[in-house]
Amino acid sequence: MPELSDSASGAPTNNGTTSPLTIIIFGASGDLTHRKLLPALFDQAVDGLLHPETRILGVARRQKTHLEFREEIRESVQTFARNTGRLDLFPEFEKRIFYHAMTFDDPNGYNALRTTLLSDEFRKPTQGNVLYYLATPPSYFVPIIRNLGSYGLSTINEGETATGGGFTRIIIEKPFGRDLASAQDLNREVLQVFRENQVFRIDHYLGKETVQNIVVFRMSNPAIGSLWSNVHVKSVHITVHEAVGVEGRGDYFEEAGILRDMVQNHLFQLMTLTAMEPPVAFEAQAIRDEKVKVLRSLKPIRTEDIPKVIVRGQYTVGEVDGVPVPGYRNEPKIPPTSDTPTFARIKVEVQNWRWAGVPFYLTAGKRMTRRETIIRIVFKEVPFALFRLAGCPGTVSNELIIRIQPNEGIALRFGIKRPGGRLVIDPVEMDFSYQTAYHDKAPDAYERLLHDAIIGDSTLFARNDEVERSWTFIAPLLGDLSRLSPLRFYTAGTDGPEEKDRLDDPLPA
Ligand code: NDP
Ligand code: BG6
Repeated sequence: MPELSDSASGAPTNNGTTSPLTIIIFGASGDLTHRKLLPALFDQAVDGLLHPETRILGVARRQKTHLEFREEIRESVQTFARNTGRLDLFPEFEKRIFYHAMTFDDPNGYNALRTTLLSDEFRKPTQGNVLYYLATPPSYFVPIIRNLGSYGLSTINEGETATGGGFTRIIIEKPFGRDLASAQDLNREVLQVFRENQVFRIDHYLGKETVQNIVVFRMSNPAIGSLWSNVHVKSVHITVHEAVGVEGRGDYFEEAGILRDMVQNHLFQLMTLTAMEPPVAFEAQAIRDEKVKVLRSLKPIRTEDIPKVIVRGQYTVGEVDGVPVPGYRNEPKIPPTSDTPTFARIKVEVQNWRWAGVPFYLTAGKRMTRRETIIRIVFKEVPFALFRLAGCPGTVSNELIIRIQPNEGIALRFGIKRPGGRLVIDPVEMDFSYQTAYHDKAPDAYERLLHDAIIGDSTLFARNDEVERSWTFIAPLLGDLSRLSPLRFYTAGTDGPEEKDRLDDPLPA
């Protein structure tokens, strides 16, 4: 990623090495911290990307000792880290992990935190650098941010930068708001306490290798780049299918639904990276400017268009991979009459010079046949049906398939003549697979994003206007749609309700 200067610290931040810092994780006993954050930090430490003086301070409600917390983390690392072959390095890693019990509304807790951060044990070896990570239920984002401001924790290093250290940054988990008004409120609260260049709004899809490759693939290959517009492209299909259901997060999902949980953030990120113009420079502001322009170009959704632009679904009892699974309404913490969608397909139009007339279909669903995230670029047919007129059965339309996960790779589909006397065109694929080309396991998205926040590079994080634009666009689809787009039911372990195909231009066979 490019060299950036963080005016919070005034120091250039990205020269490939990281500064020492204290990472304070609010929500340190939560699912995300244990499955993703601590394993990612361990993997970074193993790869030499985490400064050895870095301290990790977990903050959560339950009382526990540093040792108990370290023991829990050992288990998480054993289960979820990439470098499980290097557990011999865990004893060194755990020495700098600490735990601080407090409730998020407790003034004494913040005062004690401040004392800890200013103590010799923390401040000297970390040069006063601090990164807060809000891995808490979203209802605590504002209270914590306000308290960080009130108790002097957001400015803990101001005036202490004589030695060149002293940045303070904050990573905020998703969901960033639940609609435009709440996202604006949250942005206002954050920006009263931190400057924009200190704020890192996470969308972990941006940390995935294959997602970053969308831009590189398009913009480093002239043959591909020259096809990337309405001159050649007929439609774009961005699909995120998950085999999992709501995974014990029923109360959260019931509030969010698939549009807030997946579409407004992850799918919009995939869409903006696919549709954006080449930036003037490969750096955070320029890239995010182009993504925002895509969001500004989206054709607004009028109420009368809703039946034509969205299909919503909810899974019923079924089987995934041969294992029986309950219907959404039978999941824990879900009311038996819930009409929260677990599936949505929406059709959007990017109304600009490059994409006018090309529909983008965004599909997200839980309890689908299998886990699969792909971007399919379907190209226009040949201008003249030469072979069909000669009696050849069928034609093949060209497709570029970017497999984001799993089996990461890129395939190009095209037609060739079947060997033999008859004129028959068969579809075939040229297939690039990451696994075959690169044998090492790619770093997890959270590893990449934590590293970028530590070095102060916000390219792979969402900017305030980006988040607000996406909420503005999706707002008409968040209300009561029971009349305009009735909920359609689909059996768990299938690919969504039949009605989804009504939005589509028929896809070629
Ligand atoms: P959990 O519910 O598992 O964890 C919540 C954490 O917050 C716990 O450590 C809990 O501490 C702490 N906590 C809650 N209330 C208080 C309080 N009043 N005072 C002090 N501590 C409190 O949440 P997740 O880890 O699942 O999610 C965290 C964030 O990450 C959310 O914003 C979520 O949307 C986001 N996220 C999560 C993903 C996931 O896969 N889990 C994926 C993507 C985003 P204690 O246990 O001590 O009560
Ligand atoms: C999270 C959503 O942001 O992304 C989850 O809250 C979803 O509901 C998850 O399962 C999907 O992430 P991934 O990386 O497994 O595709």
